[in-house]
Amino acid sequence: MTTNPARLAEKVGPAVAWETTSAAETHALGKAVGEACAGHAVMALVGPRGAGKTCLVRGIAEGLGVPTDLVASPTFVLIHEYAGRLPLYHADLYRLEEQDAVNGLGLEEYTESPGVTVIDLGGDRRRVALHPRGARSAELVARATARLAKQSPTGRA
Ligand SMILES: Nc1ncnc2c1ncn2[C@@H]1O[C@H](COP(=O)(O)OP(=O)(O)O)[C@@H](O)[C@H]1O
Ligand SMILES: [Mg+2]
Repeated sequence: MTTNPARLAEKVGPAVAWETTSAAETHALGKAVGEACAGHAVMALVGPRGAGKTCLVRGIAEGLGVPTDLVASPTFVLIHEYAGRLPLYHADLYRLEEQDAVNGLGLEEYTESPGVTVIDLGGDRRRVALHPRGARSAELVARATARLAKQSPTGRA
C-alpha cells in the first residue's frame, strides 16, 4: 500500500464516469460506493474546492452506515474518523498540494488499517489553457506568454 498520489492514480482497470446534476445525485453516487465497500479500500478524491468531494464523502458515509450529519466540511482537523459498518477515515488534505507533504503525514496508519480511507485532495490549483485559433490569436497568446514570463513567480501562481 502506498500513499504516493502518483501510485494511487495508477490505472489497473477501466474508469467509470458519471455526470451528476445535483448534490443529491452526487450523494447517491457516494452512497452506492459506500455500500459497495467490502473491506479495506483507499480512495483519492481529486478536484477543486466546490467540486462536491465532501458531498460524495457524506454519501460514502451513509453507504457505510455512518450518520451523515456527522460528516463535517474541512476543519483544522486533518483526519476525521467515523464508526460505520467499516471504519471510515476522511483525510482532508485540501491545503496540501505538494506530494512530499502528503508523503510525510503518516497516512499509512490509516491506509494500511482494514477500513475505508477517503483522501480529499483539493486546493486552489487550476489549469488554464489558451488554444489559439488562427494567426492573430497565436500572436495574442505569444504576447500574453511573454508578459507572464516577466512577472514574479508568485504573480504566475
Ligand atoms: N452535482 C453536484 N454534486 C455535488 N455538489 C453540487 C452539485 N451541484 C451543486 N453542488 C453544490 O456544490 C457544493 C459542493 O460542496 P462540497 O461537497 O463541500 O465540495 P468540496 O468538498 O469539493 O469543496 C455544495 O454546495 C453543493 O450543494
Ligand atoms: Mg470538501
